[in-house]
Amino acid sequence: MIDNLGKLRADALAQLAPIWDEAALEEWRVKYLGRKGAVSASMEQLGALPKEERGAVGKLANETKNELEAAYATKVGAMKQRALSESLEAEPLDVTLPGRPVLRGRLHPATANLREIYRIWGDMGFQIFRSRQVESDEMNFQLLNIPPNHPARDNWSTFYVADTEQRVLLRTHTSPGQIRAMRQLSQGGTQPVRVILPGMCYRYEQISARYEIQFNQVEGLAVGRNVTFADLKGTLTEFARRMFGERPVRFYGDHFPFTEPSAQMDVQCIICDGAGCAMCKYTGFLEILGAGMVHPQVLRNGGYDPAEWSGFAFGMGPERIAILKHGIEDIRYFWANDLRFLEQF
Ligand code: DAH
Repeated sequence: MIDNLGKLRADALAQLAPIWDEAALEEWRVKYLGRKGAVSASMEQLGALPKEERGAVGKLANETKNELEAAYATKVGAMKQRALSESLEAEPLDVTLPGRPVLRGRLHPATANLREIYRIWGDMGFQIFRSRQVESDEMNFQLLNIPPNHPARDNWSTFYVADTEQRVLLRTHTSPGQIRAMRQLSQGGTQPVRVILPGMCYRYEQISARYEIQFNQVEGLAVGRNVTFADLKGTLTEFARRMFGERPVRFYGDHFPFTEPSAQMDVQCIICDGAGCAMCKYTGFLEILGAGMVHPQVLRNGGYDPAEWSGFAFGMGPERIAILKHGIEDIRYFWANDLRFLEQF
């Protein structure tokens, strides 16, 4: 029996050595280590031995089993290693090749432009006031002197969200934030406010190169005891200087229901420096924003007594400013998420 075990061990190891494929290895494992394999078979014979021999032979049988199992595990490892080196030789890796550049994200041009505007107004002492995008008809129109059915409503094609009594809508401009800011910050009409109100606005437009159904606006509002039209002109002129550099601006009359008087501000064309080009339609100037002195009724709606308080307001379209600054010919690029456009900034 002892001789048999020795021979079994020697045969098994001799057969294992030249094996390098999985099917042959599995055959070997079944033959020697399987449940009905040679090692199990010799274990079963132990019972037939005389008692005195059983201990020593049993020990040897166990050792043989352990040794063959270890040899099997070593073989499995060696085969994996060999497969790896073969595949590396077949497809060599050139570790000196330069890596592929990693594309880094960056700010969307609209965001970058907004932040530039925030920074300038922040430096001039204006706080950011966030106001809601879903508004009531009352806030978006009525408290801004635009009653139901007033012809001025034609200027703001509107998305209505729900046709309830309140006529819930998507704000068509950031101006309703003026009322909310005054009511929230004025402490009952006793405190001055100086805020900008940035955010997305929505209009029911036919989308084209010039019109989008969504766009940002940055509204501004300054209310104080002695705010004059000269403050409006001075502040907006300084904003234009910081935003566009040293170039002339001009103001002229306009009309908005929520300001009186109302004005429009132009800045000398950034593309042609005033010489005249397609962007400025050969006028030499670009319209940048609408503005005006806050209408007394709007002040009242915000909680201020117009006999003691006055204010100016303005509204600008940052995408429009970016279009002018970079000579972008189609507003649809902003929300189209086309990397060929976005990567230019
Ligand atoms: N809300 C106006 C619009 O969307 C822009 C505007 C004009 C805002 C004059 C103002 C202002 O605050 O004073 O067309």
